[in-house]
Amino acid sequence: LNYPTARFLISAPTLALCPEDTGAEIAFAGRSNAGKSSAINALTQQNSLARTSRTPGRTQLINFFTVANDSALRLVDLPGYGYAKVPEAVKLEWQHHLSEYLRERYSLRGLVLLMDVRHPLTEFDQMMLGFADQRNMPVHILLTKADKLKNGAAKNALQQVRSRLREWEDLVSVQLFSSLKRDGVDTLSRRLDQWFAP
Ligand code: GTP
Ligand code: MG
Repeated sequence: LNYPTARFLISAPTLALCPEDTGAEIAFAGRSNAGKSSAINALTQQNSLARTSRTPGRTQLINFFTVANDSALRLVDLPGYGYAKVPEAVKLEWQHHLSEYLRERYSLRGLVLLMDVRHPLTEFDQMMLGFADQRNMPVHILLTKADKLKNGAAKNALQQVRSRLREWEDLVSVQLFSSLKRDGVDTLSRRLDQWFAP
């Protein structure tokens, strides 16, 4: 698909307010500040399609983007989880909407799960893998900010994550990614193409 054709569709605070649950959707999830919005921008070659920020917790709504001028094909930028500085009640509220979306969204074909290559597989990340596993949904992991490590160290991190996920290997794939250097964009778009394919 031609991801640079992506356009903003709508933001929704809850599952009930999301666009009609038909067609196919791919969501980007991950800890706050992992680089979800930046990855969507790298994929779509647009600098400010998804809002990025140095302040964690920037994306607080479920943001929908259409691809190829077709509202039946959507990318979704999810709110980051695990941001420490919001009140516990707000955190629980987000977590509730996020889990509801991941468990119940029928058009969701796959989950792109982003983790900082220096801090992969947190408890939250494993919870996301659990949601995906429950509905037998494929997950593609991006080990982001790979530019922050030397080549060898990045490759080691990739191997380690792969070996820790061996039991999930039917459902989960992993790659290194850098939005800054635009490394890994082709691999990502091929994966998304597979999921969007009818
Ligand atoms: P929330 O919306 O808060 O959940 O964050 P997010 O996951 O959408 O992260 P975002 O894309 O806003 O990026 C967070 C910060 O990390 C920004 O300062 C980005 O510039 C930086 N960043 C994102 N991707 C990369 C990358 O590949 N390399 C480097 N060096 N920095 C990156
Ligand atoms: Mg964001």
